Amino acid sequence: MERVLPFRFDEGEGVFWLLDQRRLPLEEVWVPVRTAREMAEAIRAMVVRGAPAIGVSAAFGMVLAHLGGEDPKEADRLLRQSRPTAVNLFYALDRMRPHWGDREGSLREARALWREVEETEKAIALHGARVLRGQVLTHCNTGPLATGGYGTALGAIVEAHRQGRISHVWVDETRPYLQGARLTAYELKKAGVPATLIADNMAGFLMAQGKVDAVIVGVDRMALNGDFANKIGTYALAVLAHHHGIPFYAALPLSSVDPRLRSGEGIPIEERPPEEVLTIRGLRLAPEGFPAYHPAFDLTPHRFLTGIITEKGVLYPPFDEALRDALGLA
Ligand code: MRU
Repeated sequence: MERVLPFRFDEGEGVFWLLDQRRLPLEEVWVPVRTAREMAEAIRAMVVRGAPAIGVSAAFGMVLAHLGGEDPKEADRLLRQSRPTAVNLFYALDRMRPHWGDREGSLREARALWREVEETEKAIALHGARVLRGQVLTHCNTGPLATGGYGTALGAIVEAHRQGRISHVWVDETRPYLQGARLTAYELKKAGVPATLIADNMAGFLMAQGKVDAVIVGVDRMALNGDFANKIGTYALAVLAHHHGIPFYAALPLSSVDPRLRSGEGIPIEERPPEEVLTIRGLRLAPEGFPAYHPAFDLTPHRFLTGIITEKGVLYPPFDEALRDALGLA
C-alpha cells in the first residue's frame, strides 16, 4: 500500500517536517518545525492531527527543544496546552520527561515511540481485519496521516481489503473539519480501496437499506470501562449502528487508554473556533455574525461497542476486565 506519512525528521538540520494537513488533498506542502513552540502551534492549528501523530510530533517537539537549547519544562508546558482530548499527547510527553536535559536520550525515546506506533498498528490491522466484512463505514481520518504508522481503523480496513474480506468503504465526510472527505478519501484512493464519500447525515439511511455490515472508528481517549472520545459524530453513528443491529468497533493502540479514568465522564472535550463551522476554506456558509458551536469530539458509552481492536487482539465485554487485563493492571 502506498502510504503518505505526516512527518519526517531531518536530524542534520534539526528540523521536523510536517505535511500540512490543512491543505490536503489539494496541495502537498511541507512545513518546517524548528522549536517546541512552533510544534505546539502546529498541533493547535492542526497542521498535524490524529491522536498517535500528535503524540509522536510532541515527542519530537521535545527533541527540538533539546537541540535548540530551550527550557524542557517550558517546552513540555507549551506542548501540553496544544490540544486537550487525545491522551497520546500526554502519554508521549510523560515518556519524554525522564530524558529532559539529555539530547541523545530524548531522540532515542522519540524514535522508539514512533517505532512503537508502527509496530502496534501492524498488529491492530491484522486483528481488525478479522472482524470486518462486506461494506464498512468509517468516520474521520484514522490512516497513516493520523498516526505516522499504518493507521488504526483505516489500517484494519486496508488490510481487510487486501485479504478480500471487504468489498466497499463508506467514508463519512466528517463535518466540520472534513477529515473524511479530505484525508480518508485521499488515503483510500492511494491505497486502491473502493470507497464512496457520504455526508454524515446519510449514514442512517444507508444502514436502514442494509448497505452497512460494520462500522469502525478510531479513538482519541478511552477510559478503563471502554467509554471513549472520538471525532464529533461518532456517538451518533454508534447509536445508529446499535439501532440497526450493526457491529460497531473502535480501533486503538493501548496507549490511547487513559488508565486514570474509570469512565468517559472525565475526558476533556476540545471546543474549537466557531469559524471552523461557519466557513469552509474561507467561504462563509451562514449569515455574517451568526453564532456557531464547535465541540470537536464526542463521548461514546461502551455499551454501544461490539469490540475494541487493540494490538493485543480484539477485546469483548466486559470491557473493564478485558482492558485491565490487556494493560496488565491488577
Ligand atoms: O481532530 P483530529 O483530526 O485530530 O481528530 C482525529 C480523530 O478523531 C481520530 O479518529 C482519532 O485521533 C483516532 S486516529 C488514529
